[in-house]
Amino acid sequence: MDIYNFGKELIVEAGKFIEMRMTREFQIDSKSNPNDLVTDVDRETEQFLYTKILERFPDHLIIGEEGHGQNIQDTKGVIWIVDPIDGTLNFVHQGENFAISIGVFIDGEPYCGLIYDCMKRDLYHAKYKNGAYLNEQALLPAENIPLNQSLIAINPKRVLGEETRSPFFKIMAESRSVRSYGSAALEFAMLAKGQISALLFLKLYPWDYTAGVIITGELGFKTSDLYGRELPLLSSSSVISGNPKIHSEILEYFTGDKRLYEYHEKIHGS
Ligand code: IPD
Ligand code: CA
Ligand code: CA
Repeated sequence: MDIYNFGKELIVEAGKFIEMRMTREFQIDSKSNPNDLVTDVDRETEQFLYTKILERFPDHLIIGEEGHGQNIQDTKGVIWIVDPIDGTLNFVHQGENFAISIGVFIDGEPYCGLIYDCMKRDLYHAKYKNGAYLNEQALLPAENIPLNQSLIAINPKRVLGEETRSPFFKIMAESRSVRSYGSAALEFAMLAKGQISALLFLKLYPWDYTAGVIITGELGFKTSDLYGRELPLLSSSSVISGNPKIHSEILEYFTGDKRLYEYHEKIHGS
């Protein structure tokens, strides 16, 4: 079985593990701040994925949000970038609206992207240059819907600061309306399904976005940071993703905004 088919089976198995595990009690801890939560289920699911991948492919590398492989310095070889639960706050508060997200890269080139909405049992998947699917169904190409006719996804709490308010509020005002779902991976899934036309994040990590970028890239959506640069595989980034029209419309709101660029440098180091 190739890496793609193995990955599809594995992510569904990990979803079953989460469903089973969440029926028992689990511990909730906070990480960088009181609102940044991690649970035993996040850690155990990452361990489950890590063990299974290495059992099958001992020479592959794994970068996981909860601690595996974060000292990887270059992109040589096969790298699995794993978020065991994207949307931990939803997992804790709602028991749904979270996903497992896995992006696989070979020597820095995209290979496949997998997002599993565990509670809906929906698998979004794409092998690079082979189209993108929701379960067995091919997803449709991006439509060039402009900002003023679009729903866009933003985490409003992250853009309230003085440095970010001005461009982000203008974008929100120009859009048809704004949504915030609490899982970047599921927001990429909604983009892929055509339910929103863009998503904007000030700071995400590769485990939040790599699967989504590969899947939506197959459909003609564009993703970059807020300068228009390609997203990195080994460090954090801002993330602007959408159909080509809205993507370039949105980038214009950031062009030349020195205060925003300085803030970006402060939170990402670039
Ligand atoms: C978070 C979600 C959320 C985004 C945060 C991420 P986590 O991931 O993707 O939508 O706003 O920045 O950290 O912590 O639930 O895996
Ligand atoms: Ca995440
Ligand atoms: Ca996570």
